[in-house]
Amino acid sequence: MPGPSLTQDFFRGRRERFFEAMGDNTIAVFPAGPATPNHIRFRQNSDFYYLTGFPEPGAVAALLKHEGEQTYVLFVPPRDAHSERWDGSRAGVEGAVSGYGADVAHSVDDIDKELPSLFGNAWHAYLKPDIHTALGRTLFGIYERSAKSSDRLGHGAVELKDPAWLLASMRVHKTPEELDMMRHAAAISRASYAETIPHIKPGAYEYEIQARLEYGWRSRGADEPAYVSIVGGGNNATCLHYVENDGMLRDGDAVLIDAGCMYGHYASDVTRTYPVNGKFSDAQRRIYEIVLRAEKAAIEIMKPGVSIKDLQKTGALVMIDGMVELGWLEDGDPEELFDDKAHQPYFMHGIAHHLGLDTHDSAPAESDGEPFQLREGAVVTIEPGIYVSEGVEGVDEVYHRIGVRVEDDVLVTADGYETLTDGIVKEIDDIEAAVGSA
Ligand code: GLY
Ligand code: MN
Ligand code: MN
Repeated sequence: MPGPSLTQDFFRGRRERFFEAMGDNTIAVFPAGPATPNHIRFRQNSDFYYLTGFPEPGAVAALLKHEGEQTYVLFVPPRDAHSERWDGSRAGVEGAVSGYGADVAHSVDDIDKELPSLFGNAWHAYLKPDIHTALGRTLFGIYERSAKSSDRLGHGAVELKDPAWLLASMRVHKTPEELDMMRHAAAISRASYAETIPHIKPGAYEYEIQARLEYGWRSRGADEPAYVSIVGGGNNATCLHYVENDGMLRDGDAVLIDAGCMYGHYASDVTRTYPVNGKFSDAQRRIYEIVLRAEKAAIEIMKPGVSIKDLQKTGALVMIDGMVELGWLEDGDPEELFDDKAHQPYFMHGIAHHLGLDTHDSAPAESDGEPFQLREGAVVTIEPGIYVSEGVEGVDEVYHRIGVRVEDDVLVTADGYETLTDGIVKEIDDIEAAVGSA
């Protein structure tokens, strides 16, 4: 099913925004991701992709602004028949200009020769310090050498800045083109959940459910899972990053599925919890109702001006109320219980994170001296959960071996929100009607 795609206009627009923000007499340098060994699927570095759309590993982009004149330089792996026979075609130096909008392109093999002179006139340089990759070390070495010679030549010290904050400030607010991609990713995830859930039944294996979901994504043109899918039945659901997915689903257990596809580099991130036999037990239902209430409460307050801290508190207060009702917490002033983190033994993770090119997407930490406030175009997930492992003390045994999380992807609009993953059923009646109906 062909879906939307980003055009070179989109990437040119992103570079224009970065050029506007970066100031004059500045160079910004961005490495692509490193090639992955052993046939592991390559995933492009998200910042690099956002500014270039260039799909190959090992490339470098430089944005230069000098006395108001802007130049986009790409360093790319050179054409090479032998490498291309094995690893697929490359754009090469010519393709970097004709296909990807570079004003100037060089082979990345010449980066030691060509990049230092680009640093030469800059007063400020954006470069993420990265000692973990060979390319990162090379780029930093070039910067250091050019900074030294710039002292010698009387140019003076260059201010080195990490571009992360500036890019995060851009990436956090999605453009209409990006939202088309994210809506499509959510739609693919939704379609596959609808097909898969009827196959949940006692005796099915966690990996069968994973395989059905992932088949549904890929067969609709998704790239791959956005992150390692989690399908955990019973006690497995209480391990937050359970990924083995090799257990059998048992009658009477609940199964937690945290799985979302990536489409055109954009992630969806979805969690649902289902009763394996099609009917929630009383204990599962009570917990599920609290979690769903917390999720809806946090979603309901979403609009421009709200911070992730606000979402966290709104959800946690609902959780605390529910935990008091269940007898897990002593009754008390909810604000004090919240300040004391009384909910954390059972709800121990954040309720929200940004979503986009990365599952845990970039966002600046603050705006105007306050925790960062969401604006129109921000997409966050809302994902409260309650986890009670086998043998835990202080909670009645009927609640043991239950992990429940509900997670949706929510866009902040001009006056509220839009739930991108709407329609992946989460009301108890709808879930009970769907599970096992295949
Ligand atoms: N699946 C990763 C997360 O929910 O944050
Ligand atoms: Mn998430
Ligand atoms: Mn998730």
